Amino acid sequence: MIRSLFLAALLIAAPAAAAERVSMIPAPASEAPMAGSFHLTSRTVISVEAGDPRARASAQFLADLLQRTRGLNLAVGTPKSGEPAIRLAGGQGAGEGYKVAVSPDGIAVTGSGEAGLFYGAVTVWQLATQTPGRGPVEIPAVTLDDAPRFAWRGLMLDSARHFQSVDFIKGLIDQMALVKLNTLQWHLTDDQAWRLEIRKYPRLTEVGAWRVPAGPAAAADIDPKTGKPRVIGGFYTQAQVRELVAYAAARHVTIVPEIEMPGHALAPIQAYPHLGSAPVPTDNISGDWGVFPYLYNVEEPTFGFLEDVLAEVTELFPSRYIHVGGDEAVKDQWRSSPAVQARMKALHIGSEAQLQGWFISRIEQVLNARGRRLIGWDEILEGGVAKGATITSWRGIDGAIVAAKLGHDAVLSPAPTLYLDNGQSASPDAPPGRGQVVSLKTVYDFDPMPAALDDDERPHILGVQANLWTEHVRTEQRAAMMLFPRAAALAEIAWAPAARRDWNGFADRLPAQLARYRALGQTYDETPLKVRGLGDPAGDGARLALLGAEGLGEIRYTLDGSAPTPASPIYAAPLEVKLGATVRAQAYRAGQALAPASAIKVDARAIRTRRSQELKSCSENILLNLEDDAPVRGERARFLIDVLAPCWTYEGADLSGVSRIEVAVGQLPFNFQIGKDIEKIVFRPPATPQGELEVRQGSCQGPVVAVLPLAPAAKSQGVTVLTSEIKGEAGPRDLCFTFTQKTVEPMWALDRVTLVAEAPRGR
Ligand code: ACM
Repeated sequence: MIRSLFLAALLIAAPAAAAERVSMIPAPASEAPMAGSFHLTSRTVISVEAGDPRARASAQFLADLLQRTRGLNLAVGTPKSGEPAIRLAGGQGAGEGYKVAVSPDGIAVTGSGEAGLFYGAVTVWQLATQTPGRGPVEIPAVTLDDAPRFAWRGLMLDSARHFQSVDFIKGLIDQMALVKLNTLQWHLTDDQAWRLEIRKYPRLTEVGAWRVPAGPAAAADIDPKTGKPRVIGGFYTQAQVRELVAYAAARHVTIVPEIEMPGHALAPIQAYPHLGSAPVPTDNISGDWGVFPYLYNVEEPTFGFLEDVLAEVTELFPSRYIHVGGDEAVKDQWRSSPAVQARMKALHIGSEAQLQGWFISRIEQVLNARGRRLIGWDEILEGGVAKGATITSWRGIDGAIVAAKLGHDAVLSPAPTLYLDNGQSASPDAPPGRGQVVSLKTVYDFDPMPAALDDDERPHILGVQANLWTEHVRTEQRAAMMLFPRAAALAEIAWAPAARRDWNGFADRLPAQLARYRALGQTYDETPLKVRGLGDPAGDGARLALLGAEGLGEIRYTLDGSAPTPASPIYAAPLEVKLGATVRAQAYRAGQALAPASAIKVDARAIRTRRSQELKSCSENILLNLEDDAPVRGERARFLIDVLAPCWTYEGADLSGVSRIEVAVGQLPFNFQIGKDIEKIVFRPPATPQGELEVRQGSCQGPVVAVLPLAPAAKSQGVTVLTSEIKGEAGPRDLCFTFTQKTVEPMWALDRVTLVAEAPRGR
């Protein structure tokens, strides 16, 4: 008993002790600290065996990284005897494992394959950047023996909803390689765009790569060159794609293209309307989001088109897998199309779901004939799954479980856990996106191996992937914020053995990773790491809660105007502060600051103001953190809103001493394709033509305490501040905010609420 307890204590203690030694992400499978350290300087030579170009490429990659991040200039070549060196050796074939041995005399890297040698080189860079700073560095001696848990370590980038430049994608590939992610699923086609040049069908990009964003602001933004509303978009030429594929291959990243079918295909159908199952709009490519009804038809010329497209796709992308989408193909158009129904009858296909199964199986044959394998979203399991299909499980993990039990391979990519279009924190400063919070820890806590699988089914789980959809991610800077640092957590769950997963150890290693991002000039989202305040009135002062870095660090603060330090008082519970005070606060992990300090001003307005993200949405049907459509250029408001039921609660608002309310409201285009769900959206009837914002006390059924007509706000596409008197009971009570209106257009949204306190008497 004592003996096993002792052993258990050792097992528990081992990773924590080791984590102090090596600060790498992802954590290696095994690490053995050794005595001493290696002094890395510009005099160190990176040595490779002659006549090994791939090893030389890995060596050069390492040299470039050390130059960029530490300012060290290491030569790649043959060291003179006795000269300190990083020796790269081995690395033929496909293995991804590697060994790194750091000793006071040098560093030896051996790869079990080309990728392994590359990952060994990347690891040396991580070891050299465990402590931030430039110039020579001591690397503590250690022996690492490492190999990945999963073969598919993926990210998906949606370049259809918003376009990103080739340079951005190269930067993403670099960052993937630096944390040993190896698969980039590239979402190139959708309802809102077709981004890949196809030589045989030029209209796909001529028509399909450009659109006017939704909403009146964009419609009024006339491009002087055309006299028409300005379009956004772009596409990737075949030359650019070849360049990206080669760039990725050099970093051991495989790009898996995704060509959506039979749904999410409005853009190509608009370019070539004969491909559709029903007439399509012939004007602008749509700027709506959601699930459109348009599907490809099932005529032979349509398969001919898809075969031609896939011929060019497979010429461009050497990946073993080609993703064909298959998600969210609502079958209404197939049900109501006489031609589709006739085809089903002729083929003896009994249901539209089976027709999709037949459709995907035909495409699988096309891909197999080209030596490729088909992968699709988990809907392709319905209606008879194609013989050798691999499944991306996104509607939870059930798709992967079903697939594996049927003998199919699967990749886990469940929403919302691995949907990086959700923000990383509840901060009002988080970039726009979906409205759930998917924190770094949410990603880290996901175990990619479903417990429901037996040992013989587990090998079907190829790995794990996080998806960056970009409906609400309009800029590259925001895409980077959504990706980082969460890609680091993804990398660790994809690479490290289950036994090495340890949130605290990961959090300890995060500051070094953030420093690596900064050293490389990589944007990441700092908002979850920054301290923010949420105040409430308390007596004649305020009670201030400090939020941020949840699960990651401790918050320290000052009240005397000085900058916080790791020795400042630690925040444990809301602070009682005087009005007019400025609280300075910063989050630390193991004594290292996680983000710049915040200065939080506490005054009578701030403690009675809530932005929409600080209110509670009454429901979460389709909860989005939406950016305003106006102004077209410049800063726009962001609204946390359930687009099926816009309604917000200010919990525990106290109307004591409050006589007026100010509410900033904005109007958004209702650009959501939600099918019959549109009937679920109900509003209270308006009393004036433009409608009103109504404020109720106690609950959303409580008495109305303020009414703010929307007429003044209807004139502006941007945010308008409305004000009214407010009369309700004193004491903490919820306030509920809803809009009255006749139709969903425009969609009114609440930006911020301020309860205006009466000035104290006698002043
Ligand atoms: C998906 O999110 N529709 C795969």
